[in-house]
Amino acid sequence: MLGFIGGSGIYEALPLDDTREETVTTPFGDPSAPIVVGEFADTGREVAFVPRHGRDHQYSPTTLPYRANIYALKELGVTHVIASNAVGSLREELPPQTLVVPDQTYDRTKRRPLTFFDEGIVVHQPFAEPYCRELSAHLAEAAREAAGTDVVEGGTYVCIEGPQFSTVAESEFYRAQGWDVVGMTTIPEAKLAREAEIAYATVTGVTDYDVWKEGSQVTLEEVLENAQANEDAIKRTVERAIETLPDDHACSCHTALEGTINTPSHAIPESTK
Ligand code: ADE
Repeated sequence: MLGFIGGSGIYEALPLDDTREETVTTPFGDPSAPIVVGEFADTGREVAFVPRHGRDHQYSPTTLPYRANIYALKELGVTHVIASNAVGSLREELPPQTLVVPDQTYDRTKRRPLTFFDEGIVVHQPFAEPYCRELSAHLAEAAREAAGTDVVEGGTYVCIEGPQFSTVAESEFYRAQGWDVVGMTTIPEAKLAREAEIAYATVTGVTDYDVWKEGSQVTLEEVLENAQANEDAIKRTVERAIETLPDDHACSCHTALEGTINTPSHAIPESTK
């Protein structure tokens, strides 16, 4: 099954038929909202939708239940997650309302649980490529075909803790590193998806020029206005990506835990692989 984790501005589920609400409780608490599962527009394909910040946008980037969200999607049988995030631009050539499908991230978060495995089991998960390469390519193609706005494939998403936006010094530092967009939510979501052996990719919608740019203030009003404007392009992208994802789409994300567990008593037995 496919999952969609919607970011700021995406509160409505996709066009799903025969929907049901799944209330999944997890060892990490409740997900951001009951998960809406339904058949995606005559495709016979089931999709599970979670609004990342909750239905009333009640979870901040720090407090939102990332682990419960990914755990619940895994429980429901989700194998691929497409996410969307609102981001600020660190580049002149990425104006508001551009869509960026990043291929790298830099973690500047400070106080979030980053793993499912921190009690009695040690897992060292390779994460050199934080987003599923195949799913990202598929998502970028879907965006080019359906978004109706500028689409950039590849780029680095620096994930800050928030909830405050950045200072000018921070923003200039991020630019000097060659990073492209700044947001608050791709970490730990992408890390947890990899640990859950779920293929994960994100389409980010630029809502503002971050404060490196002369005259840019980054107000919540501007961010929300452009998030609203990006919503249709992101929905069209996600819909196209869902329609066109091949049934047999497979990638190494689905076996990501193999060889990563450094606690011998928890090694996955050969016979169950
Ligand atoms: N989300 C949207 N715009 C942002 C910005 N400028 N910084 C961090 N997160 C954001």
